[in-house]
Amino acid sequence: MDKIVSLAKRRGFVFQSSEIYGGLNGCWDYGPMGVELLNNLKQAWWRSMTLRDDIEGVDASILMHPRVWEASGHVANFTDPMVDCKQCKSRYRVDVLLEELSLKKKKEILRELEPTTFAGQLQDQKVLDEFEARALLDDIVPKMIQLASCPNCGSKGTFTEARQFNLMFKTSMGPVEDTNNVVYLRPETAQGIFVNFLNIQSASRQKLPFGVAQIGKAFRNEINTKNFLFRTREFEQMEMQYFVKPGEEDKWFEYWRAERLKWFVELGMKPGKLQWHKHEKLAHYAKAAFDIEFQFPFGWGEIEGIHSRTDFDLSRHEEYSGKSMKYFDDQTKEKFTPFVIETSAGASRSFMAFLVAAYDEESAPTAEGGEEMRTVLHFHPRLAPIKAAILPLVNRDGMDEIAHTMTADLQKYFRVFYDDSGAVGRRYRRQDEIGTPFCFTIDSQTLHDQSVTVRERDSMNQERIAISAARNYLMDKLGS
Ligand code: GAP
Repeated sequence: MDKIVSLAKRRGFVFQSSEIYGGLNGCWDYGPMGVELLNNLKQAWWRSMTLRDDIEGVDASILMHPRVWEASGHVANFTDPMVDCKQCKSRYRVDVLLEELSLKKKKEILRELEPTTFAGQLQDQKVLDEFEARALLDDIVPKMIQLASCPNCGSKGTFTEARQFNLMFKTSMGPVEDTNNVVYLRPETAQGIFVNFLNIQSASRQKLPFGVAQIGKAFRNEINTKNFLFRTREFEQMEMQYFVKPGEEDKWFEYWRAERLKWFVELGMKPGKLQWHKHEKLAHYAKAAFDIEFQFPFGWGEIEGIHSRTDFDLSRHEEYSGKSMKYFDDQTKEKFTPFVIETSAGASRSFMAFLVAAYDEESAPTAEGGEEMRTVLHFHPRLAPIKAAILPLVNRDGMDEIAHTMTADLQKYFRVFYDDSGAVGRRYRRQDEIGTPFCFTIDSQTLHDQSVTVRERDSMNQERIAISAARNYLMDKLGS
């Protein structure tokens, strides 16, 4: 992870937010390469969702009526239990605190709580399983907390009782700050789709089943931001709500599970790096839920959730707004509340997964016939920030002019990069590091026959093509 974070900064993918002021925890800025990668990722998602008949797009506002979050259940339920250390004032999420206790400490706590059951004869894994199972029981948690030590100052028994902490960021609307004009920064984009369900349906004249896709920022006042972009306080989601007839939800749930896994694989993720996680403990709105998990260097982590949300959201908005959210089926003449299948991916979290999946260090041949290590990002060409580099072998004899003309021609269609500084081998390495899939080199043969070499990033193979064929060559490789 450290190597990837350092490359991300050095090559302009991701910077710490407000770095010159010491950074702002849980917030990150996307640099010149990062914003290209993020935009390409979002565009790939948007195209896969909307280049079909049954999905419409929307871009709802971040600030919504506060009743939205009462209806959705976020005001009441979007909370984490927290404890504070009375000694050093550090704050912890209860589950994280328990998770981070060492096995030895866990055993110690269990023995103190139940000396007869844990007489030392249990295997370690069994102790852990027991601990985890019991940690879910509310009456055990407070006792465990009191026996745990503060990871910051080491004091034992100094934790306050657990309190519920809502993860939504609050602000106020208008010039006067008081409790009557509280609004929230949305913690998910989904509700902007639900509240617009009938607007979108009537404007687009869609019939069930149909979906609505949205990409946008979401905010959560996460207590533990960790692992780079994995859990941040400001992030982007790519969500699609698919509205179906009640009774058809299981079929569509399976359909969208398959589609969404395929999307990651088609963009270059190795299937072995992805796995399904079935939720046993369901969110307040869900009938079934599966996560697509990616194998990060720190372990498996969710990158997307596929949720069968029943008619919970539309029914609740109907109840809280007093407006009908029912769909009228003009064939059967029935009115009913559709069920929803949600696909909810994190754009920033997927960005990190694609970055990690692409990163490699491998040996590569040098121009002199030797070997050297190269750092390379094996992005799918569609995701790569720069599609091609244009490299005049030398900066004279007209090679630079041809390269400039070629750059200007290709730039009308693709993000390409002109580079004439340093040995060509070093220029290749610089492009490998940012994942540029193709390098066109202009050499002395170009002067005679208007052809260039194309060097492919992963295989490092080279072939010759006519300059006039370069545009179609890239189009073909990008699949667009
Ligand atoms: N509308 C349902 C929903 O928001 P979620 O599982 O809470 O479901 C969906 O979030 C996705 O959003 C996650 O799979 C993850 O990719 C991303 N996500 C959630 N919280 C995040 C955070 N704090 N930082 C970065 N990405 C996050």
